Amino acid sequence: MKIGVVTRNQEAWCSTQLRQALEKNSISHVFLGFRDLVARVGMKPEVALKETNLMTDLNTLIIRPIGRGSLEEIIYRMDVLHKLQRLGMTIINPPLSIERSVDKYHTLALFEERGLPVPQTIATENLEEAKQGFHDLGGDVVIKPLFGSRGIGSARVSDPDVAERLFRAILFHHGVLYLQRFISHGDSDIRAFVIGSKVVAAMRRVAPNWKTNVSLGARPVALNPPEEMKRLAVEAAEILGCKIAGVDMLESHDGPVIIELNSQPGWRGLQTVAAVNIAEEIVKFAISEVGN
Ligand SMILES: Nc1ncnc2c1ncn2[C@@H]1O[C@H](COP(=O)(O)OP(=O)(O)O)[C@@H](O)[C@H]1O
Ligand SMILES: [Mg+2]
Repeated sequence: MKIGVVTRNQEAWCSTQLRQALEKNSISHVFLGFRDLVARVGMKPEVALKETNLMTDLNTLIIRPIGRGSLEEIIYRMDVLHKLQRLGMTIINPPLSIERSVDKYHTLALFEERGLPVPQTIATENLEEAKQGFHDLGGDVVIKPLFGSRGIGSARVSDPDVAERLFRAILFHHGVLYLQRFISHGDSDIRAFVIGSKVVAAMRRVAPNWKTNVSLGARPVALNPPEEMKRLAVEAAEILGCKIAGVDMLESHDGPVIIELNSQPGWRGLQTVAAVNIAEEIVKFAISEVGN
């Protein structure tokens, strides 16, 4: 049994945790980046890392953050994962689930279709629709990058003039406008970490302001969420096809809503309040998935 971990940063905290967990379980492993790979057509092996034929030498790939890149780089990387999956490789998370979850609009649309609670949200490339949407959403909205993470680039806007300036700037740079009703959450939210079909750890993130990303300074607080929230998180992961997921939920006046699902979640903050070793849970799960 040999597990591959695909990551842009082999020395990152989460990578190191995974390496230790793999070593503890005596699983041979290799860490690799997409830039190290070669894919071949009409020649063999189809996907290789120097002398390593990924298909014959690895059982499973764990995908950590695949990195920023141009559209060409990202689509190529996903295509290589799809190729490996067609050849029979177990990939955690599967490429289709990564593609679904990276797009916040697509994610919420799929959740809504399956009856999960989501905040009112508008996506458009049209300035007039966005201005109307700003009012329809109550004139207090969060404008987010469609493909963003770690709270970077999100802005809360309650002034229509500021909203219009922002919309115009985003459209000028060929962005898609994505705006969401602001949900009063008292500067805290809930992150549930799903592995397989259960929540293995969760935390309340308590922030100095409305953005509750740990990377922006929110403090993790231990939490055993209500069963309803655990069910929501597991269902959300299943809908997108993610075997590992970090699910972000806000507590609105009308109950919990899901705002996004991360298919390559970090767990450094969460580990400080978690009862289990999350890297070991991931490795145990990866072992159990071999051949599935
Ligand atoms: N609709 C909203 N109302 C209030 N706060 C929000 C809303 N959407 C996002 N936030 C806050 O911003 C943070 C980042 O938003 P999120 O959708 O999770 O994107 P990211 O991928 O940047 O983490 C959330 O953790 C939450 O604290
Ligand atoms: Mg988030």
